[in-house]
Amino acid sequence: MTPTQTLPATPQGLALAAHLLRAGQQVAIPTETVYGLAADACNDRAVAGIFAAKNRPAFNPLIVHVSDVATARKIAVMTPEAEALAAQFWPGPLTLVLPIQPDAGLSALVTAGLGSVAVRVPAHPVAHALLAQFGGPLAAPSANPSGQISPTRSEHVLAGLSGRIAAVIAAGPCTVGVESTIVEMTGPARLLRPGGIAIEAIESCLGHALLTAAPLEDAATARPTAPGQLASHYAPGAAVRLEAQARQGADDIWLGFGTECAGADLNLSPTGDLVEAAANLFDMLHQADALAQRNNTGTLGQIVVAPIPEIGLGRAINDRLRRAAAPRG
Ligand code: TXA
Ligand code: MG
Repeated sequence: MTPTQTLPATPQGLALAAHLLRAGQQVAIPTETVYGLAADACNDRAVAGIFAAKNRPAFNPLIVHVSDVATARKIAVMTPEAEALAAQFWPGPLTLVLPIQPDAGLSALVTAGLGSVAVRVPAHPVAHALLAQFGGPLAAPSANPSGQISPTRSEHVLAGLSGRIAAVIAAGPCTVGVESTIVEMTGPARLLRPGGIAIEAIESCLGHALLTAAPLEDAATARPTAPGQLASHYAPGAAVRLEAQARQGADDIWLGFGTECAGADLNLSPTGDLVEAAANLFDMLHQADALAQRNNTGTLGQIVVAPIPEIGLGRAINDRLRRAAAPRG
C-alpha cells in the first residue's frame, strides 16, 4: 500500500492534488464543514475508489462539489426555490438534492442511479481553489471509514484512512464542524439531514416550513436516502449516553456543554454557544474516545454527553449525537 501524502495548502500542494485527482486518485480535502474524500465525479473508477477507501455501503449516493452556481446549473435542474437558497447560502454548508441534467456527465455511482443529484458549493478557500484548478465537479463524502466519526482535522483523516488514499491536504481545523444541511427539492422542499445551516434560516428564506424525512420505521424501503438516516453512524469506539448531567461511573468521560458542567473532561462550549459546540463536536468525540480507551482499570469507559438545546445548530449536533449513541448494527 502506498503511503498517504500530506500536502500543504499552497499553490504547489493544490497543483499536485489536482494532478492526483485528474489521474483518478482519491484526495482528502478541507471544507468548512468536515474534511471530504474527493474524487473526479465523472470518472467511475475514481468514484468507486471512494467507496473502497471508506469501506462504504455502495447504496449511498455522494455529494457533488462545484465551484459556483453556474456549474451547479450544468449538472442539476435549479428550481426557483433552489435558486433562492443558492443565492443566500452558497458558497456554504447547504446541499441541495435536485433533478439531474440529462447530459451532466456524472458517474452513475455518484447518484447511485437515482434521477437526482446532491450538489453544494463549499465556502472553504482551499476547496474553492482546488475546484477551480481541477476544473470539474468533485464527489466527496466525509473522509472517514464508513460509520465512524467525521474528520474535522487532517490528523483525523490520517488516523482513519492512512495508506488507503493518495493524499490529504492539511489546512487546519474545519470552522463549521458538522456536515452540510441537506434539502431535497425534487418535490416540495424536504429536510434530509440537519447540518451547518440552521433549518430556521432555510425556512425563513423560503417563507415556509420544510417537510421532514419519513422516520426510518415508516420508510417503505430499507434503503436510506441520507447517511443521517442510518441509525448507527458517527460512532466512536466507546458507548455513548446522552442527556447526562454528570458522570455515572468513575471511568466515564464527561462531554459537557454550557456553564453547568464544572468537572467535565471536555466542554463543547463553556459559554453555551451552539456554533462553537458544532465546530468542536467531532474533534471532542475523537478526544473523548481516546480518553475512554486509556483509563487504567482495563474496562472501557462510556462517553456521557450533556443535554444540548434543540434549536439552530443544536438540531444538527443532537442528530449526530443520537446516531453516535444508537445501538450498533
Ligand atoms: O458537509 C458535507 O456535506 C460533507 C463535506 C465533505 O462536503 N459531505 C458529506 O457527504 O457529508 P456524505 O456523502 O457523507 O453525505 C451525503 C449524503 C449521502 O450519503 C446521501 O445519502 C445524500 O447525501 N445524497 C446524496 N445524493 C442524494 C440524492 N440524489 N438523493 C438523496 N440523498 C442524496
Ligand atoms: Mg459521513
